[in-house]
Order: sequence, then C-alpha cells, then structure tokens
Amino acid sequence: RDAQPFYGFHQAGIVTPQPASVLYAAFDVLAENRDELAHLLRILTERLAFLTKGGPVPEIDPRLPAPDSGLLGPVVFPDNLTATLSVGASLFDYRFGLAKLRPRRLGQMERFPNDALDASQCHGDLMLQLCANTAETNIHALRDVLKHLPGLATVRWKIEGFLPPHVVKSMGADTVRNLLGFKDGTANLDARNAELMDRYVWVRAGGSEPAWAAGGSYQVVRVIRTLVERWDRTPLREQEAIIGRHKASGAPLGRGHERAPPDYDGDPDGARIALAAHIRRANPRSAETRANLILRRSYNYSRGLTPAGQLDMGLLFACYQADLTAGFLAVQTRLSGEQLEEYIRPIGGGYFFALPGVREPGGWLGQGLI
Ligand code: HEM
Repeated sequence: RDAQPFYGFHQAGIVTPQPASVLYAAFDVLAENRDELAHLLRILTERLAFLTKGGPVPEIDPRLPAPDSGLLGPVVFPDNLTATLSVGASLFDYRFGLAKLRPRRLGQMERFPNDALDASQCHGDLMLQLCANTAETNIHALRDVLKHLPGLATVRWKIEGFLPPHVVKSMGADTVRNLLGFKDGTANLDARNAELMDRYVWVRAGGSEPAWAAGGSYQVVRVIRTLVERWDRTPLREQEAIIGRHKASGAPLGRGHERAPPDYDGDPDGARIALAAHIRRANPRSAETRANLILRRSYNYSRGLTPAGQLDMGLLFACYQADLTAGFLAVQTRLSGEQLEEYIRPIGGGYFFALPGVREPGGWLGQGLI
C-alpha cells in the first residue's frame, strides 16, 4: 500500500510525484577508510529498502532496546516514502581515495551575492532526502537510519518542509502556492516525460562524467528564507511585476490562464513582463538558454523565529539536472541581482550528486563508486 519502488536504474524521489512532507538530512561521514564507507552504504541501502517497502518489526527481548522506535506502530507502513541518497564534494577529498571519481561538476556550494550562508546549515559528505505523506514517516526513517549507523555517520544539519497534501493525488501535475502566495511549479519540466528527463536530469553513460555516475543526477538544495513580513506589505502589482505572473491565477502577466506561454517574442522590451522579472530571468525561453532547463522539486518550510524576531520561513528549493553548470549555476547566475532578492535570503544548502539507483536486491547505493 502506497509503496514506491526502491530498486531501479534511477533512485526514487527525483521524478516521482512530491508527497506532502520532505526531510533533508546532511551527514558528515565518520568512517575512516573505504571499507568502512562501503559498510556504511550497505547498511544504509538495506535500511532504506526496508523502510520504503515496510513490514513488521521483529519482536525481541523487552529488556533490550527495541529494534524500532515504534513511531509508526508494530508494522512499518510505506506511506509513499522515497529515500534519495546524494554525495557531496567533500566525500571525494583525501579520506577515501575517491578524488579521481568525483563527478566533474561537483564542487562545494559557493556564495552568490545575495546569500547569507550559515556554515552550520551548509554542505555535507552525504545528503539524504526523505519524502513521504507525513512528517512522522520521514522522522521514523531518519531515526532508524541513525540508529543503524553508530560511529559511521553523524547528522550535520537537517530541515523539514511541507506542501498541501492534495498534490500527491494529482501526480505532480498540479501546482501549489509557495509562502509568497504565488503558484510554484507551473513552468517546471514535466517529470513524467522520460525523454525530457533523459536529456535534462539524468547523467548519461559515455559522456564526460565518470562511468559510475550514469543514471545519477546533480542535486541542488538551497534553504531560502523569504522575508514575508516585508512581502505582505508590498503592493500586489509590484509583487506580480517581480515574479512576472498574476498572483491569483498563476498566468503570465497579461495572459488569461496559468499554462499560457509568456510569449517573450511579442514583448521584446518587457512592457508586459519586465526583462528583470523572476520567470523571465530564470528562463528567457531563447534557443541559447534551452540547455539551462532544470527540474525543480521545492517545498515550503516554517520553523520558529529568527534572532531578530521575524518569521523564519521560506522555500526549501531543490532542483535536479544532468549538468550543474548548465543547470542551476547558469540559472542562478542570471537571477543574481533580480528584484526578488529584496525579499529572499539564501541561508543554507549545498551541491550534491544523487547516486544512480540500485538495480536489484543485493546491490547497494554507491556500489559503482567504491
Ligand atoms: C518560476 C518563485 C527561487 C528558478 C517561479 C515561479 C514562482 C517562483 C512563483 C512561477 C511559477 C513556476 O513556473 O514555477 C520563486 C521563489 C523563490 C524562487 C519565491 C525563492 C524563494 C528560484 C531559484 C531558482 C528558480 C533559486 C533557480 C536558480 C525558477 C525557474 C522557473 C521559476 C527555472 C520557471 C521559469 C519559466 O520556465 O518560466 N519561481 N522562485 N527559482 N523559478 Fe523560481
């Protein structure tokens, strides 16, 4: 019931529909050599395969610590869980002798001009993206994984996000609103289109990337605070000009419905949709920028107050692409200096590489790498 397949050429959680809850946990690896790292990845694979499939938890002597937190009851149910494991650039440093196998574009996330990166919420040797119908399922999975990795890995930072639950049913074709009140995802790549995904999301065999990376994808995670108090005091017309879309319908400015193309050819000087509008900078829809398309997979987050007493909420931006430079880096470079920056502040995240999938039982995540 509600179980996403674990085995396949690609990992789940990238083109699969977005359920309501996400949890990102970045890890520092404590394993000291390649054997220990392989051990870690094997255990992790075994746990994630079980958690995605679900099943009864073994009964043991009650005088011992229970094998499971019990958070989901005596039978773990899948709840649409997907677990996606990615590696950070730091895993390819001197520790494991993997330097030559680093995906070509993978480096440590650097600061863009509007970023206020907090080192305690950035980077990591590993990144685990958990998506499920409920937050409890993600938390259960994280606690299970941690319990099974003593001395091998420790959580460096984590963050949880949410979407309205009905997206699950619509197979990702619907759009929901982000915390600025605008529909998010309208012009996203269609994750159900395998040909598009092969071109823009998955690393293919035989290219410039190391052979082991085929079937994987570059993952970008950015924790972007939105300054909602300021946004809520901004006139609607200005908000719409900044984004380039109507707030209520999600349609491009001057167009009637959400899916209408913005038609930049008919608006070369930006009279209708400003040249500096978020959507126009993000995707000018020109022949030269077609190579920059990315698959976005963002969630909202909200978690208490900042030290200055403002609401700490925003967008847990995530995207996947076959080439980090042609994808996120090109898009973010075009966005730098956009007017939306007055209302957003990226504070954390990192660049990672989502490992190829595990083809069949017995295999493990990262097997081709180690
Ligand atoms: C489109 C909001 C950050 C890339 C949009 C849309 C909204 C939006 C409302 C229009 C609906 C849609 O097509 O999804 C935001 C907010 C952000 C943010 C509030 C930060 C808090 C980013 C970042 C990137 C990005 C960091 C990539 C570097 C895009 C792209 C589109 C888009 C590629 C589609 C443009 C098109 O094809 O027409 N964003 N965005 N956005 N955004 Fe963002």
